[in-house]
Amino acid sequence: MDFQANLSPVFFENKSFTTWNLWIKDRMLNRLFVLVDEHTKLYCLPLLKAATSSETLIHEMVVPAGESSKSLEYATHIWKYLIASHATRTDCLVNLGGGMITDLGGFAASLYKRGMRFVHLPTTLLAQVDASIGGKTGVDFEHIKNMLGTWSQPDAIFILTDFIDTLDERHVKNGWAEMMKHALIASPEYWQEVKQFEPQHISHLIQRSVKIKMNIVRKDPFENKLRKILNFGHTIGHALEAYFMKLAPDAVLHGEAIAAGMICEAWIATRCCGLSGKVFHEIENALNNIFHRLNFSETAIPEILEYMMQDKKNIQHEIRMALITSIGEALPEVSVNKDIIVQSLQMYLKG
Ligand SMILES: NC(=O)c1ccc[n+]([C@@H]2O[C@H](COP(=O)([O-])OP(=O)(O)OC[C@H]3O[C@@H](n4cnc5c(N)ncnc54)[C@H](O)[C@@H]3O)[C@@H](O)[C@H]2O)c1
Repeated sequence: MDFQANLSPVFFENKSFTTWNLWIKDRMLNRLFVLVDEHTKLYCLPLLKAATSSETLIHEMVVPAGESSKSLEYATHIWKYLIASHATRTDCLVNLGGGMITDLGGFAASLYKRGMRFVHLPTTLLAQVDASIGGKTGVDFEHIKNMLGTWSQPDAIFILTDFIDTLDERHVKNGWAEMMKHALIASPEYWQEVKQFEPQHISHLIQRSVKIKMNIVRKDPFENKLRKILNFGHTIGHALEAYFMKLAPDAVLHGEAIAAGMICEAWIATRCCGLSGKVFHEIENALNNIFHRLNFSETAIPEILEYMMQDKKNIQHEIRMALITSIGEALPEVSVNKDIIVQSLQMYLKG
């Protein structure tokens, strides 16, 4: 299978969902299975229903909002519903929601009868610029994030930036962290735009981010090498996310942890990859202007390091991370000594 040729088309949609309606008509879909959570049922589904041709029957599948629905249990609910409705592989599962919904729905669809048609309509900024793009699906299992999953491209992705209007600022920033990462690994020009937090220009910025992520995924769909640059900020960021998750599920959002991870990893890049101190301070200031500094104590560092030891990018207990050499240039895998990681976290705590 030529995965590259199958990279999903992304349509930037307007309020009347013109492309969406044409897409449904072309495929003669007279019914759709729409997966939502409680919030996207409330905020996004009415918009979609109003815009979708009345000849198309909509079957709603609702799961509770939050990461805990990204589970085998809810995937099973979806499969049972599809079976009871006699859904075939040419029926379409529509994932209308944030990254939790696109991951869960993509996972369920990719396994149902060895793969049914599915599309993403991402409704959070994080899902529009990141989770819906690239063909990774998954559920959490045994308390491990994304433990079970598939590589599976949706048939299409429809992005309506108006969905973002009902997100609170914290969730807008959650996606913004990934947009800043896209700029840091791929585009100094984009960095100049995205380092200011100006959500009024969001449509244009979303398109820039989607283009950057797609270019990277197209060149390395299965994350053998280049795609790993998308993990900049994520080695330390994921460890911080896991540490805070244990304290309370929503204590720290993904983007907030990644922002902290990018500060630490940019500092490490000054030690290992020749990133200049001046550029490091520019990155740190830009991130500090948007995100609160995370609050943890120095005694938590060994535990945070332990989470990093479990990172799937490591090879034989060696911690590897994606680092930047300048704004717009990244290396996919740099082996980093534990002492430098500890120092970066101590630097972060000093503020
Ligand atoms: N597959 C990938 O490549 C990839 C990449 C990054 C993240 N992810 C996954 O994405 C998930 C996080 O995504 P997320 O931050 O979008 O979380 P989410 O889907 O849980 O959404 C966050 C909150 O926003 C609500 N919401 C969604 N759309 C809304 C809207 N338009 N208005 C108001 N509220 C709305 C949701 O109900 C939820 O309460 C994680 O599970 C993560 O693992 C996957």
